Amino acid sequence: MNSKARLVVLTGAGISAESGLKTFRDGDGLWENHAIEDVATPEGWQRDPELVLRFYNERRDQVRRAKPNPAHRALAELEAAGFNVCIVTQNIDDLHERAGSKDVVHLHGEVLKARSNADPRLVYPLTRGDIKLGDLCDKGSQLRPDVVWFGEAVPAYGQACDIVAEADLLLVVGTSLAVMPAAMLLHEAPTDCPCILVDPNASALSPQWVRAIDAPASRGVPPLVEHWCRQRRLEMP
Ligand code: APR
Repeated sequence: MNSKARLVVLTGAGISAESGLKTFRDGDGLWENHAIEDVATPEGWQRDPELVLRFYNERRDQVRRAKPNPAHRALAELEAAGFNVCIVTQNIDDLHERAGSKDVVHLHGEVLKARSNADPRLVYPLTRGDIKLGDLCDKGSQLRPDVVWFGEAVPAYGQACDIVAEADLLLVVGTSLAVMPAAMLLHEAPTDCPCILVDPNASALSPQWVRAIDAPASRGVPPLVEHWCRQRRLEMP
């Protein structure tokens, strides 16, 4: 990869799996022992807001305790080395940022932020503590996690499409590409844009035009980054 090339990295739950955060579709169809419709839909929120808040308070606790792994760090090092890297993540954790990546778009929101139930523009960082029933936004309505649930619009999708449309190389890490509209993002890339998928299941998941690397993120991503950095050293006069 030429060092001026625009690398767009699309990440999913798999990149954070080795940091101890569970993926969604690897096991029994449950997310941390809960049915997705109970904890990740507007209907679940209406039915039992206390359960939903407790669920995300636990996820937030896990995220705070988790640490970036070698895959997050390698991507941040690539950016620090002067490569043009933009990350579009489906993850609600902040492990890319804590590894040092500066250009990160969260397609499905961020668990470390709260937002108003009535006005999605009212967003508050949650550096400490939980969200409880009765915690209100400035307009007096209940706070909820600033995450995108199934059945909700994805506000950052347009921005993500524009980013992918500018890619010279697409690197996809740890996503089953099972969820719309994220799965559609691949098709926004220019037709001649090469695409690499790193996932233990890569060969089974990827269309033929994608280069599949069957490996966990922490083993698949750092060698790619090392290779690109070495290539650049050779390019230099
Ligand atoms: N390294 C890389 N990939 C891994 C690893 C690992 N160590 N372990 C598992 N994987 C892969 C799995 O093979 C699978 O392809 O991670 C992928 C996880 O897929 P999903 O659980 O479906 O996660 P994701 O694609 O991010 O889900 C998308 O669905 O539930 C919603 O909003 C939620 O953002 C999430 C979205």
